[in-house]
Amino acid sequence: MGVPAVSDLLDIARAARERSYSPYSGFAVGAAIRLTDGTTVSAANVENASYGLSMCAERSAVFKLIAERGTPSGDHGMVEIAIAGDPGTAAYPCGACRQVISEFASHIKVILESGDDAIEMTMDELFPHPFELDNKDTNGGD
Ligand code: THU
Repeated sequence: MGVPAVSDLLDIARAARERSYSPYSGFAVGAAIRLTDGTTVSAANVENASYGLSMCAERSAVFKLIAERGTPSGDHGMVEIAIAGDPGTAAYPCGACRQVISEFASHIKVILESGDDAIEMTMDELFPHPFELDNKDTNGGD
């Protein structure tokens, strides 16, 4: 099986975005994760009338992957995550999604749709100081 190029992974994220359930915000998001074996997992944001129960596309994709395939080591096989919001505009992942992506795939490459080009970032750039339960230095433990 071939490994999808960046544009292919963004296309998968765009296709996932079509499945978004976002009647409350009107903001549809799709995310697609490519794994080391070339397979992909994708998801869209899913909202609820009780707004706070809504779930972002990125976390849906990560949780779907973990729930389906378990927890192998090494970024769980995640190589890249592509995120597609409104066409042509970069949809940066929210803080909650950055925290979740960071815990499961701190070395993943993040690809954001942005017009004809794509923006590529590392998690170090997007989220340099993640919360870590056992990190006494940053969490004030003694
Ligand atoms: N949303 C995402 O899917 N990913 C993000 O990183 C930020 C926001 C969704 C949540 C909600 O359904 C809609 O966008 C508006 O906030």
